[in-house]
Amino acid sequence: MPKITFIAHDETVHEVTADIGASVMEAAFDNLIPGIDADCGGQCACATCHVFINGDWAAKIPAREEMEESMLELAEGVTEFSRLACQIPITDALDGLKVQLPEAQH
Ligand code: FES
Repeated sequence: MPKITFIAHDETVHEVTADIGASVMEAAFDNLIPGIDADCGGQCACATCHVFINGDWAAKIPAREEMEESMLELAEGVTEFSRLACQIPITDALDGLKVQLPEAQH
C-alpha cells in the first residue's frame, strides 16, 4: 500500500499508509491528520481539504477539473501547487507522495 506523508505548516510530519482507490483526503481523514476537515465528505464542495502538491508528484496526478478550480477560488493561500485532496485518487504511482498543508489549516 502506498505511503503518503502529510507535512503541516509548522513542519509536523505524519506518514500514513493509504488504500489504492481511496482519495488523498480519505487517507488523511482516516488517519486523523489535523488540518483536513473534509466538511463535504469528498464531494468537491467545501475546499477544506486544500493541500499543496509540488514538483514531480504533480505530474503523476490528474489535472484539476473545472469544479475543483471553482472550489479552490474559495480557499486561502492558493498557489499553482494547490489541489483539493478529495480529488486525488491514490494509485501505486503515488507511493511516497508528500503533501503540504496550508497555514490556514491546522
Ligand atoms: Fe470538500 Fe474536498 S472534502 S472539497
